Amino acid sequence: MSKETLKKSIREIPDFPIPGILFYDVTTLFKDPAALQELSDTMYEMYKDKGITKVVGIESRGFIMGPILATRLGAGFVPIRKPGKLPAETIEESYEKEYGKDTVQMHKDAIDENDVILLHDDLLATGGTMAAACKLVKQMNPKKIYVNFIIELQELHGRNVFDKDIDIESVLSL
Ligand code: PRP
Ligand code: MG
Repeated sequence: MSKETLKKSIREIPDFPIPGILFYDVTTLFKDPAALQELSDTMYEMYKDKGITKVVGIESRGFIMGPILATRLGAGFVPIRKPGKLPAETIEESYEKEYGKDTVQMHKDAIDENDVILLHDDLLATGGTMAAACKLVKQMNPKKIYVNFIIELQELHGRNVFDKDIDIESVLSL
């Protein structure tokens, strides 16, 4: 399957969740067996030789491909969640996103300095969400952090908010 076909499997919904936002709906990609397999294969090829020990997924749309990728890479999976959902001791970061303000939390004991981390989310817009997630992961001093998205919205220049030592890749640039 070509990247063009994969792109076409993503549904575009204008004015959701608020007027002026064009929403990229990845559920239409996920429900298509060939597209889901292609995405999984592509992401596996991108990271198979990086020595990833943990995939960190961001609630909620990072919870779909995150665990799929973790099992393929033989890595563990760590959730970054919205406030009040994680039961043990957490660290947290607040951030501005494309529409509104939010906070993310991660368990304090989820990552250690021996880990090579792949941080995953479905979409890079302003970069606020992933930058906050990166700050959380960095506090645990892992060996290396890779960042991955299914979709990158190039015109928002979200990748510019990250430190230069973070390795950022997206499957599709829109
Ligand atoms: C969306 C998307 C990313 C984030 C991207 O999540 O899934 O996580 O926004 O925007 P940013 O780059 O400007 O931060 P959302 O917060 O809408 O929640 P959801 O994943 O639970 O649907
Ligand atoms: Mg999200």
